Amino acid sequence: MEVQVLSKSLDTIETELLVLTVFEDQLDKLDYCKVIDEKLGGKLSRIIESGEVKGKYREFTLLHTENIGASRILIMGLGKSKDFSLDRIRSIAANSSRYARRINIREMAIHDFIDFDAATPDIGEAIVEGILLGMYRFNKYKSTKKDADNAQKLNTLKIASSSEDRVAELQEGANKGKNLAESANFARDLVNEPGNKMTPAIFADEAVKVAETLENVSIKVLEKADIEAEGMGSFLAVSLGSDLPPKMVVMEYKGNPGGKTIGIVGKGVTFDSGGYDLKPSSGMLRMYGDMGGAAATLAAFKAIAQQKLPVNVVIVTPLTENLVNGKAFKPSDILTSMSGKTIEVLNTDAEGRLILCDAMTYIQKYHNPDVLVDIATLTGAAIIALGRTVSATLTNDDELYQRLYDAGEYSGERVWRLPLYDEFRSQLVSDVADIENVGGRSAGTITAAMFLKDFVDEDRPWIHIDIAGTSMMEEEIARYVKNPYLPKEGGTGTGTRLLYHFVESFTEDH
Ligand code: BES
Ligand code: ZN
Ligand code: ZN
Repeated sequence: MEVQVLSKSLDTIETELLVLTVFEDQLDKLDYCKVIDEKLGGKLSRIIESGEVKGKYREFTLLHTENIGASRILIMGLGKSKDFSLDRIRSIAANSSRYARRINIREMAIHDFIDFDAATPDIGEAIVEGILLGMYRFNKYKSTKKDADNAQKLNTLKIASSSEDRVAELQEGANKGKNLAESANFARDLVNEPGNKMTPAIFADEAVKVAETLENVSIKVLEKADIEAEGMGSFLAVSLGSDLPPKMVVMEYKGNPGGKTIGIVGKGVTFDSGGYDLKPSSGMLRMYGDMGGAAATLAAFKAIAQQKLPVNVVIVTPLTENLVNGKAFKPSDILTSMSGKTIEVLNTDAEGRLILCDAMTYIQKYHNPDVLVDIATLTGAAIIALGRTVSATLTNDDELYQRLYDAGEYSGERVWRLPLYDEFRSQLVSDVADIENVGGRSAGTITAAMFLKDFVDEDRPWIHIDIAGTSMMEEEIARYVKNPYLPKEGGTGTGTRLLYHFVESFTEDH
């Protein structure tokens, strides 16, 4: 989609569909589109006075128009002005583009929300993000629908800048929004590919392809023999039940040589059957998405390097299936991790932490990051605790929480903190090994994080993000979540924009 930022009076913008917006509690305040109202002989004010347009959030009204550049106007309700946010801009933009697609329009224009008190680039960013995220569909395996859908997609967006001096900043924000949304859509694609189409090897190939398009980026793919040579007995154990070899992608971006390095580890289980602690079929259904952490990590890395952020990032994604065969690891097996710690396997379905702990040891040993992040579809308990719109986070560093929280509020990919009190460690005490891989039914998200904490170096700032609830959407849940820029089914890309803004907070000019 091409984005044009135009500094022209709203009534002169040539477009098939012009999106205007009204607040529920400011129906009389339409200064920004007064010229249009005048050119239309007061039609806008009349339709508002009549009560047909109330400005309620999600309300939309279409007008066919003459005497102005636009042939149609779409009036979108914004709800109460006190509830307005960048996220509402994303939602309004997404809804408008979905509406445009429905009526077969391939080009639309939107105003620049001059009355909203936010940084100008952020407005451009939110508009473009909302549109590109909202129009996303995963239809590559639908032979006919694919072409029809693509033919209906918006190909041009015009942003009407209210003044000449906002043009450059709106364009800058629009470019960034495009990068972020396309990266999040890339994460959605990776998640949406089923288990037979997104194996450890295919994921690693995708990472190599990403690296080829970027500057100041290097990549290494560790093969099974390398993983053995590093002594990653925990990661390897999970991979034993699969006929496909495990892989570990290691990518570095140097955007600020000599500066801080952020290390990110993402869980990449390309299919989680549960292993010998087999999941029931209902629970196994979406487990091709158990690499959502790795997908968000790779996608955020891509966005960061594309945006040329002045910061250093290293990512590690351990990739494997968790299946069953005659070689698979078993309940009660005792594993030796790369750190030297031994692990008693009480449940083969708690495999995420087993692959993450070795990846975390690896990244700390070879890359010594100033900040360590890990992101994973780790526990069903995170869904019980926080539902399907908020990711769980746990950290040993209050400042990191603040940064991640702020990134979540900004991006709409919200997080909430759970505690890492020492007493939870007692749930993981093993009679025979250094640690157990599960801690019983209570506080499942916390004990998973407590397990990982054992593999974090003393004094290293670390933050863990559990996206089990947020990485994928389901139709039944979409019905009440009602987020127009999220798909109704499948990968959401959650983690991509969150990690991007978290990492961006470490750049000096931020
Ligand atoms: N991949 C799952 C967690 C998950 C569940 C992600 C639902 C997305 C939706 C993970 O590997 C797992 O199975 N965790 C177990 C841990 C338990 C055995 C301690 C769980 O949450 O039940
Ligand atoms: Zn599992
Ligand atoms: Zn899993």
